[in-house]
Amino acid sequence: MKIGMFDSGIGGLTVLNEALALMPDEAYYYYADSDNVPYGNKTAGQIREYSQKAVSFLIERGCDAVVIACNTATAAAAGYLRERFTIPIIGIEPAVKPAVEHNEGKRILVLATEVTAHEKKLEDLISRVDNEKLVDVKAMPGLVSFAERGEFDSEAVRECISEELSDIELNDYGIVVFGCTHFNHFKDAIRAVFGRDIRMIDGSAGTARNLKKILEGMGIPSEGKNEIFYYESGREVKDKEKLVFYEKIMKHLKE
Ligand code: DGL
Repeated sequence: MKIGMFDSGIGGLTVLNEALALMPDEAYYYYADSDNVPYGNKTAGQIREYSQKAVSFLIERGCDAVVIACNTATAAAAGYLRERFTIPIIGIEPAVKPAVEHNEGKRILVLATEVTAHEKKLEDLISRVDNEKLVDVKAMPGLVSFAERGEFDSEAVRECISEELSDIELNDYGIVVFGCTHFNHFKDAIRAVFGRDIRMIDGSAGTARNLKKILEGMGIPSEGKNEIFYYESGREVKDKEKLVFYEKIMKHLKE
């Protein structure tokens, strides 16, 4: 099977990592929209346009299904894309439901981009599952650019997180839900800011399971070998240094 995935940048590599664990012998086409990152401060119209371009590109590569490995693009563009393309389009969403189900009494904090935090999709999801009114949402606009530079834990990253969370009482929260795939890369820094071992949940594994189920239902034969192709806004990543950057992140995610 040929599996396409896209994100504004390196956030969706978390979904790629989970999909590889479930379906190692397939061909993966990972599209990082590095010309347009971050999506979190763009309009829904812009995000739809970028997403449509990414999906068209992945279909041209022969992909049997495409994963929107970006919560922001799912929130702004999933319905739009499904109306325009016939192949399965699977979108990641903040794992609010599992967080509510596994909660042990404290509050739950969803961290997301500005777009996701304010989209109706998230509001609807929370009102469907948050019976005890324990879920809060916080937009974190500053982190994505650190991730794109490969800076996942530093003094500046911790300062940015502390600053963006300065108006909330950290002790009230027992679970953090990553409503942005980029935030998975900051687990150590987030733990340090909370000053304790906080539970962190994200939707990558669930998205990969969903993808597997859909692909199995399509009955497409396996590629029989693993291949990963990386693209940046439609240009294949061939530069050695850049490939090493991607591979280093993938290795780190496996640890
Ligand atoms: N990784 C993306 C998400 O899951 C978007 C980050 C951005 O480009 O702002 O929401």
